[in-house]
Amino acid sequence: MLTHERTNEKIIEPLLFELSQPGHNPGRLPEVDVPAADLPVELTRADLPLPEVSEIDLVRHFTRLSQLNFSVDTHFYPLGSCTMKYNPRVNDWAATLPGFLMLHPYQPEATTQGALRLLYELQQDLGAIAGLPGVTLQPSAGAHGELTGVLIIMAYHRARGDEKRTRILVPDSAHGTNPATAAMVGYSVTHIPTDARGNLDLDTLRAEMDDTVAGIMLTNPNTLGLFEENILTVTSLIHERGGLVYCDGANMNAVLGITRPGDLGCDILHYNLHKTFSVPHGGGGPGAGGTAVRADLAPFLPTPVVARRDDASGPEYYLDYDRPHSIGRIRAFYGNFGNAVRGYTYIRSLGPDGLRAVSENAVLNANYIRVRLTGVYDLPYDRICMHEAVFSGRQQAKLGVRTLDIAKRLIDFGIHPPTVYFPLIVEEALMIEPTETETRATLDTFIEVMTRIAREAQETPDLVKEAPHTTPISRPDDVAAARKPVVRWQAGG
Ligand SMILES: Cc1ncc(COP(=O)(O)O)c(C=O)c1O
Repeated sequence: MLTHERTNEKIIEPLLFELSQPGHNPGRLPEVDVPAADLPVELTRADLPLPEVSEIDLVRHFTRLSQLNFSVDTHFYPLGSCTMKYNPRVNDWAATLPGFLMLHPYQPEATTQGALRLLYELQQDLGAIAGLPGVTLQPSAGAHGELTGVLIIMAYHRARGDEKRTRILVPDSAHGTNPATAAMVGYSVTHIPTDARGNLDLDTLRAEMDDTVAGIMLTNPNTLGLFEENILTVTSLIHERGGLVYCDGANMNAVLGITRPGDLGCDILHYNLHKTFSVPHGGGGPGAGGTAVRADLAPFLPTPVVARRDDASGPEYYLDYDRPHSIGRIRAFYGNFGNAVRGYTYIRSLGPDGLRAVSENAVLNANYIRVRLTGVYDLPYDRICMHEAVFSGRQQAKLGVRTLDIAKRLIDFGIHPPTVYFPLIVEEALMIEPTETETRATLDTFIEVMTRIAREAQETPDLVKEAPHTTPISRPDDVAAARKPVVRWQAGG
C-alpha cells in the first residue's frame, strides 16, 4: 500500500477575486492617528477593483495556497545536489533570540561581543571541518562563495607577479555556476572530460595543465555523487605547475568529519550553509556560503573578518578592517547573520561525532536507494556512491517516457522530484539525494513509487506523460513562467 498516494481528483483553487462578494470586508482598519494628507494624484486610482472578502475567507485562501507548495516540512524532497535536509527548529529558536534578532550592524563592538564571538567560532569551526583555517562568512550563497574564491585565486597570482595565468580548468560534470564564476572573474574556461569510472580524465588534465592555468574548480564528491578517486594526483598535478585548487563544497554533506578537503590538496572551498548545515534554502530565506582558504591565502579574504584580540587594547572580538591584501568587500556588513546563527547551532548541537554520523547516514541512505533501484533505472556509473545516486531514465525514454515525465509523476505521490537533466554528462539524468534525515520507511515508499512509475512507463505510458494529475496546474511552461511571469490579476484577462 502506498501511503503517499493521492486521489486523482483535481484541486481547483479559486482566485481571490473569484471569492469576492460585494460588501464583504476583511476587518476594520485602525483609526487614523496621524494628520490626514492628500495623496499625490499620480498615486491614486479611482478604478482599483479590490476583492471583497471576509477575514476568514482571506486567511483560508492564503493558507490553502501555502499548502499546495512542496517543502521539506511537508514532503520528501530528494533534490540532488541541493541537500534538502530537515532544518531543525532549534536553529530558528537560536536565530530569533532577542539578543541576536534586535542587533544593529552599526552597534559598537563592545555591545555585540556575543554575536562577534559566535561569528568567530563559526569561522573556526568551518575552518576545522575543511582543514582550511582562513574563513569568511560574507558570501550569501554557494555561487557567491565561488566568486570570492576565484577572486582570491586571481589576487594570489597577481600578488606574486604571475600575470600569465588566464585559464581555469573545470570538469564537464561541474555545476553551471563553476564555469560561470570563472568567466565572470575574467578567466577562460577549459573543460576536462570525465572518464568511464566517473573520475576526472587524467590524461586530458595532464595535457591541459601548464603555466597559463590559474587553477581548477573541482567538486568532490563530484556531481555524479562519486568520490574523486584520483584526487591526490589531481591536486598534485595542479600544484606542481603553480595552480590553485578551488573545491566546490556543495557536497560536503558526504564527508563531514570523515575527510578534510584541505588534507586532499584543496586550497579554497566554499560551503553552502543552506545545504550542509541545515540552513533554509533561497526560497526559505537567503542562503549563506562561507568560504575557507589555506593559511597563506587568508590575507586575501574579504574585509572585514571577525578577529580575536589577545591583549586588552579593546573588546576581545572585533571586526578586522586592516587587511591591505584583501579582495575587498563582497557583501554588505558581515554576511547573513541569522543564517550564521542557524549553521552554528547545527554544528554545536551535533558536535564532531554527530556531524560524522550525518555524513555516514547520508551516504548509507543514498546507497540504499542506489542498490534497490539498480535494474529498475539505468545506473551509468555503477559503483558505491556518496550522498547521492545518479540514475539515467534512458531505458524509459526509449518507451517515450522522458525523465521529466517521471519527475512530474512523482508529484502525484506527494514526492518532490529529484534534480533532473543534471549533471549534463548523464543522459536523462535523475539525481537523487535522500539526505540523512529521512527514515527507512520514507526511503522504502520512494523506492516503491519509483518502481511503480517504471512499470507504468511500460504499461500505461500516457499516465506518466500526462502527470501530474493532482495539481491545479499540470504542466506550466517553466521557461515562460520564469521569464514572463504574470503576477497581476486583471479582470477578464
Ligand atoms: C555542485 C554545486 N555547486 C554550486 C552550487 C551553487 O550554490 P548556490 O545555489 O548556493 O549558489 C550548487 C547549487 O545547487 C551546486 O549544486
